[in-house]
Amino acid sequence: MPKRTIQDLDLQGRRVLVRVDFNVPITDGSVADDTRVRASIPTIQHALDHGASVILMSHLGRPKGERQPELSLAPVASRLSDLIGRPVQFARDCVGDETEHTVGRAQPGEVMLLENLRFHSEEEENDPRFAAQLATLTDVYVNDAFGTAHRAHASTVGVVDHIADAAVGLLMARELEQLGSLLASPERPFVAILGGDKVSGKLEVIENLLERVEVLLVGGAMAYTFFKRRGWPTGTSLVEPDLLEATARVEERARDLGVDLELPTDQLVADSLSAGSPCEHLAVPDAAIGERLGVDIGPRTGAEYASRIRSARTIVWNGPMGVFEIDEFAKGTMAVAQAVAASPARSVVGGGDSIAAVAKAGVTDHITHISTGGGASLDFLGGRTLPGVAALPDRA
Ligand code: 3PG
Repeated sequence: MPKRTIQDLDLQGRRVLVRVDFNVPITDGSVADDTRVRASIPTIQHALDHGASVILMSHLGRPKGERQPELSLAPVASRLSDLIGRPVQFARDCVGDETEHTVGRAQPGEVMLLENLRFHSEEEENDPRFAAQLATLTDVYVNDAFGTAHRAHASTVGVVDHIADAAVGLLMARELEQLGSLLASPERPFVAILGGDKVSGKLEVIENLLERVEVLLVGGAMAYTFFKRRGWPTGTSLVEPDLLEATARVEERARDLGVDLELPTDQLVADSLSAGSPCEHLAVPDAAIGERLGVDIGPRTGAEYASRIRSARTIVWNGPMGVFEIDEFAKGTMAVAQAVAASPARSVVGGGDSIAAVAKAGVTDHITHISTGGGASLDFLGGRTLPGVAALPDRA
């Protein structure tokens, strides 16, 4: 059942409290990547165009209830102001008398950003009193923080109990629509590409996707847990011994379902995870890995994966194929990014690393949907209910 959206609400002359996900990297006091800030603009603009004032709230990092100046949202207020071309007032706290007073003076057309919610431990505890305090700021609540929808916190779940009108924002609605239809009615063949460090965070996603895809391409350090299970040499690559059984089950399930689960057939190995480290191209398996570690898929795997991607009609990609932040180890991830971008298939990319990889390859504009959610998109693709979405009313 689709959720009520901001477009269903009467906003004229009202104050709208919008939960956004402005958990963005800050370097030297300014926003290093404003993707999530830009993604929030359609909802903010919609509220302003419909006569509302907009009060934004978000977390940044994990300050664990401590006021940490380096995790202040102040730099985000100034970046947002540049992006929307109007002032964004910054409130030094998200609750309390001073905040209530400042918010109370907001006029239609004005935008305000509250200080980091996680400076209060009650936020992550989903404390009902804290949620009620947030709710005193407004009578309309919109959740546009897809990236935080997998967290049951005061600003994503508790607050809804205290609000007359609640809805999802335009970003959240688009994410749910894109990811939802990807799982429900993908055009075939459906190819999933999973990489990154660990199998552990992705086991549910793998299991859920196996039921839906024709092809699952595995890369990144996570492939080494599969190698280990086969008794192949993995050197000093990151391997999760607790998950050897789980990878065996995954491979068995793939066989039962007739899914092509592909592992790298060649690899780039290096002495260490640093730029300039000597590296060598090896087949998989190859005992010559010695004490070295895998840092990228090899060119043969890159070409094989690209060819599978070329024949897809639907693609989902989460997790890089190697340590792409280092140019010498980025070729496999770049090959996959280029192949996804060149494919006419509907493509969805999620997770901070894959988004950064797509940006590094310069192909962001060629992806159908870039999800702003890391953990949230994984939970969604893993078939889990997102508490921040479940808390909101369905469309009447
Ligand atoms: C994210 O970046 O995945 C979200 O903002 C959630 O952040 P968290 O993992 O600190 O809850």
